[in-house]
Amino acid sequence: MIDCSIDCPAGALAARAAEMPLGQVRWLAPVAPPQEVDETKRNVLKLLAVAGLVGAAGGGLVGGTLQYAQPPSIGLSAFPRVQLLDLDGAPLTVSKVESEYNVMTNDVLTFAYPLRNEPNFLINLAPSTPGGIGGTNAKNGIGTRKSIVAFSAICQHLGCPAPNLAFYPPGTCPQTPGGRPFYLHCSCHGSTYDAADGASNLTGPAILPLPQVMLEWQTSDDTIWAVDEVGPPVNGRLSTLQGDYGVGNQSKLSRQSPITLCNIV
Ligand code: FES
Repeated sequence: MIDCSIDCPAGALAARAAEMPLGQVRWLAPVAPPQEVDETKRNVLKLLAVAGLVGAAGGGLVGGTLQYAQPPSIGLSAFPRVQLLDLDGAPLTVSKVESEYNVMTNDVLTFAYPLRNEPNFLINLAPSTPGGIGGTNAKNGIGTRKSIVAFSAICQHLGCPAPNLAFYPPGTCPQTPGGRPFYLHCSCHGSTYDAADGASNLTGPAILPLPQVMLEWQTSDDTIWAVDEVGPPVNGRLSTLQGDYGVGNQSKLSRQSPITLCNIV
């Protein structure tokens, strides 16, 4: 028979309990040796956790910032063929332009091409009456007298758009740049362009011509189409084709009043 009064673990606990005063018997669990805490390791783990959180947040922030710092590249890969519509939405025809719009038209008529945010003038330089003041055989002009032309309505200096940039009928202003009667004038800083010569620059501060929209006269139904653009890119753009969505298959004329300042230098 084994004497467990002292040698067995249970016997040892019983012996310790017996040493306590009556009424103070309690559970005596084996005492585990204290775990040593490695503070260095704990601190390293804390640092790694914090660095991970900061990295994740920072990475997301940087990634998000870069995503929006670079605007999405929107635009076209080539100049489209776009049918022009009149102010009322009907197809614009050469006969209608020649009967309703002429060199004395005092309104700013524009249409967007090739992108939605790129306005262009539509100008008929032909005289209002046979033999009157007007222009025919204009550079890249279409129609029976090659007098219908289209140019960017965004100034090549600092980008003032129509109606700050506008075509003024002959006689609107007292003096004309270089004696040229058919000019576009920018009221922002005074640049002028020759509407009868492909919108070449007449006076500064702009030095480049306005881009010219190439028009096509579809003689089978008399309609007018924008098909291309020549000259430098539209002001402020590396490419006329980049920066907004295309206008689609059709583009409608809109009408504004010119800002007449006549501050030609
Ligand atoms: S923006 Fe047209 S002259 Fe300056």
